[in-house]
Amino acid sequence: VLCWFYIFPVYRLPRDKDIVEEVLRQGEAWQKNQTGIDHYRKLLTECCEPRKMFAVTKENSPMGKVLWYDGEFYHSRTVNNETYPLFVQENPLQLPLKKCAVVGNGGILRNSKCGRDIDQADFVLRCNLPPLSKDYVEDVGTKTHMVTANPSIVEKRFQNLLWSRKAFVDSMKVYGSSYIYMPAFSMKPGTDPSLRAYYALADTSSNLTMLFANPEFLRSVGQFWKGRGVHAKRLSTGLFLVSLALGLCEEVTAYGFWPFSVGLDEQPVSHHYYDNILPYKWFHAMPEEFVQLWQLHKSGTLRMRVGCCP
Ligand code: CDP
Repeated sequence: VLCWFYIFPVYRLPRDKDIVEEVLRQGEAWQKNQTGIDHYRKLLTECCEPRKMFAVTKENSPMGKVLWYDGEFYHSRTVNNETYPLFVQENPLQLPLKKCAVVGNGGILRNSKCGRDIDQADFVLRCNLPPLSKDYVEDVGTKTHMVTANPSIVEKRFQNLLWSRKAFVDSMKVYGSSYIYMPAFSMKPGTDPSLRAYYALADTSSNLTMLFANPEFLRSVGQFWKGRGVHAKRLSTGLFLVSLALGLCEEVTAYGFWPFSVGLDEQPVSHHYYDNILPYKWFHAMPEEFVQLWQLHKSGTLRMRVGCCP
């Protein structure tokens, strides 16, 4: 079987150089395709029920419900008096959302001047508590309606919230009154920091609302993409958000998705718009994900912004 695999490889990812060339060939041309949008929303609704399931709510996770962690083998937590009161009643978003901007953290955003474009969206989703200081405003905008926070950020940047919570609460202020979306029930060590983040915000009457990502939703989205050739151990945060947006929004534009070290002008591009710290090599499969997103761009299902904004 192994030999057959080598003689007829089932799937080979194009080289980075070929992907860049393909993107250049396509250029800025893009045509919205309503049938494609409706089709994808239907597929995502069938597999993953984003409207009902994206967050842990009192409605989908009543007392006694067993939440199975999506990033662990056989680990669960039963909803009880301690956790139930922390959940929102039901999906709090006013649906459908109209124009959504999903902002990845790719270095391609640097000098893109996409800030105004992003801020014009009705709903802006960002990944991993990104910096929004004035140095970046022109390129990434200021508005946020939903931002993800990985528990590991809480651990690394804010001493796991075991000491002062002030730095955390203060640094959340740039996200205004948005939703903070945390995968509290994905990995065992992530639960306590997520619950502490909830209390840090609640106890200071913060304008942010905590939403815990529903592990059932995360697992089903992972399977959805696995069936489409994304072979990562875990999807990147950005692809989760794009999937969510395709399920909830009438129109989706993605910015800052470019996992390549060279830009369309053949100049080096940093990994993030704010630093050049690379991810663990085999954890995500961002180029593989990019190819999928680019297919959706070509079919008019979502729009990818990979160059400068007009
Ligand atoms: O934590 P993770 O590695 O998933 O994400 P990140 O580095 O904070 O970036 C947020 C998202 O932007 C990623 O999950 C990717 O989907 C996307 N990204 C990209 O496409 N190209 C890059 N060079 C960096 C990030």
